[in-house]
Amino acid sequence: MTRPRILQIGSLAGSPGADTRMREQYEVIELWKAGDRQACLQSAADVEVIVTTAGHGCKREVIESLPNLKVICSWGVGYDSIDLEAAREKGVLLTNTPDVLNDCVADEAWGLLIACARGIAHADRHVRANNWEGKRGPLPLGTRVSGKKLGIVGLGRIGLAIAKRGTGFDMNIRYHNRTPRNDVTYQYMNSLEELASWSDFLIIATVGGSGTQALIDRSVLKALGPNGIVVNIARGSVIDETAMVELLASGELGGAGLDVFDKEPRVPDELKKMDQVVLMPHVASATTETRKAMTDLVLANVEAYFSGKPLLTPVSN
Ligand code: DGY
Repeated sequence: MTRPRILQIGSLAGSPGADTRMREQYEVIELWKAGDRQACLQSAADVEVIVTTAGHGCKREVIESLPNLKVICSWGVGYDSIDLEAAREKGVLLTNTPDVLNDCVADEAWGLLIACARGIAHADRHVRANNWEGKRGPLPLGTRVSGKKLGIVGLGRIGLAIAKRGTGFDMNIRYHNRTPRNDVTYQYMNSLEELASWSDFLIIATVGGSGTQALIDRSVLKALGPNGIVVNIARGSVIDETAMVELLASGELGGAGLDVFDKEPRVPDELKKMDQVVLMPHVASATTETRKAMTDLVLANVEAYFSGKPLLTPVSN
């Protein structure tokens, strides 16, 4: 029996075994391995399904090269790297992998917050360098987390999971969203600057893309202030990275826990030298359980398409 053909834009290497599972069920055209991209796309002219990742995205050029394309199944929750306009113009549907990663991403946001507040990464470097034994002086004191004020920018599914953890730490929680929610008791703040100046910790969990470009600008970061800590598990583009680096260097911003960066995988060198900063390489969903659940959901969407069933997690576009 011939297997349906799909075009895979990038490897699902972040999910062990995922590429093999894909190849067991489908004839996979691997665009990322093709020496000649144009020839590869031409050979995929009959393809109806693309599999990609939030990191690899899908460009207009690819969407327009495939006349039979019907659906793009993306591994990841964010879809700012997919050309939605081109997909809309061609009537191409999109699926992502929401919900299955909420807890892991919220856990990592929390890990970054505590690591910054309590100087965990700094202390780890101190011990490894034998500075404890060498008695090179005490580490700077951390700042307490429990009972503090937490601001959340973007109270979607991940933001809610972050807030839930905050209540466990007896935190006072306020948020900013595109629109206020009527199903939560956390206080809504319309002004980002006011939210930041009220907050001890500001966690960014909003969507990426042109609508949120540099939403957290210099004035918001300044409002957070010298004792404030910003945590970003959304997209690097949401924070004005240049302003953040400058304010951290001058002490006008207290600390930063960052999983995402503006020009990944490039991380500004200045950040790498700062002890008040904790850096992670865009891995908030990277646990065995969550990555498998994301792969299962991608495969379930592809399967639903080929068996004529409704897609499981369509993105309204
Ligand atoms: C996501 O799922 O959007 C992650 O950030 C991976 O890019």
